[in-house]
Amino acid sequence: MSLAPLDPLSAPPPPIDFSAVRRPLGAARGLPNAVYTDPAYHRLEMAQVLHGGWACLGSAGEVPAPGDLKPIDFGGVPLVLLRDGEGGIRVFHNVCRHRGARLVREAACRRPGLVCPYHAWSYALDGRLLKTPHVGGPGRHEAEGLDRAANGLLPVRSGLWADFVFVDLGGTAPPLEAHLAPLARRWARYDLAGLERVAGMTLTVQANWKLATENFLESYHLPIVHPALNGYSPLDEHYYFEAWPAVGAGVTGYAPPPAARPLPRLAGLDEPAAAVGEYPVVFPNLWLGVQGDHFFGVVVHPEGPTASRETLHLYAAAGAAVDPELAPTIAETLARWRQVFEEDIGPVEAMQAGRASPAFDGGLLTRFHDPASHRFMQAIAERMA
Ligand code: FES
Ligand SMILES: [Fe+2]
Repeated sequence: MSLAPLDPLSAPPPPIDFSAVRRPLGAARGLPNAVYTDPAYHRLEMAQVLHGGWACLGSAGEVPAPGDLKPIDFGGVPLVLLRDGEGGIRVFHNVCRHRGARLVREAACRRPGLVCPYHAWSYALDGRLLKTPHVGGPGRHEAEGLDRAANGLLPVRSGLWADFVFVDLGGTAPPLEAHLAPLARRWARYDLAGLERVAGMTLTVQANWKLATENFLESYHLPIVHPALNGYSPLDEHYYFEAWPAVGAGVTGYAPPPAARPLPRLAGLDEPAAAVGEYPVVFPNLWLGVQGDHFFGVVVHPEGPTASRETLHLYAAAGAAVDPELAPTIAETLARWRQVFEEDIGPVEAMQAGRASPAFDGGLLTRFHDPASHRFMQAIAERMA
């Protein structure tokens, strides 16, 4: 008698042939269907891509004050982002060292520490295990063999760049600053650290995170999917660039309808520089957009093989958030980007639906429109090799 596998979800990932995407642009095909649909492949991809080097967890502006906490599902791994008592950003595994209960369920503000909902062990904002009530029996808060110093929260290696929090779960990637140096050099004229987060929003998409990202990486669809955006960021003024791990598109004539009270221009930009917009993906999961008077980042969180959430963080010159006269301009700017990212959802979900077709072979990548998406796909193939 043969036994069926107990858990079909633990089936090994299907063999994936990445050779077609490795060809030079013009001869290359896109990634095969299974990398957008298969649960076992997805688990491996999370381990090797999202958790296998620097990736973006969120924005430091999500936890502005000491004691602010935010739980984040990071490709299936529960983490907590917080600001400690000294104002530093820390990331921990969101799991109690006692019996492994998830510690933080919802975002919270100005907490003195973290208390487990199960047996009320408590931790300081720097991760130290502080209290273990009744652990040695009623009224006895110590127990033989329990070393509090060795049972603090498990930290995750993290770093900040332009207010974005990057994590390296494996802990062995090169320093973050060196990793992002090519983009920092390209964008030396922007004082991103001098900006502040003024707004944010989250969208959910029923599609693989890579399809959403590949869509962000090409401008070909602008006139069809985003007629309004194409009016002030025209396709014929777009170009592609690479500053790896960043790759993406830019535009030389970004000119949205003028606001009644414009946002202040980013420090140090002259008029031609202020008319440029650039839109790279920082591999693997951060999309950036810089314009003359604002900046955004979208952190893409995979939620299984066929769903993602996109969290946009909008930045403007320091002080803009508290200037009541700029509130309508900030709202308009956010609404313009919301429209763009909402317009993308239908086409991205249509690409996901198309991945159910056994007749589809990865599709065509054109020399003109797809250098950035091809580079992204090649990086996926490299990590998965
Ligand atoms: S699981 Fe957290 S205190 Fe027991
Ligand atoms: Fe788009």
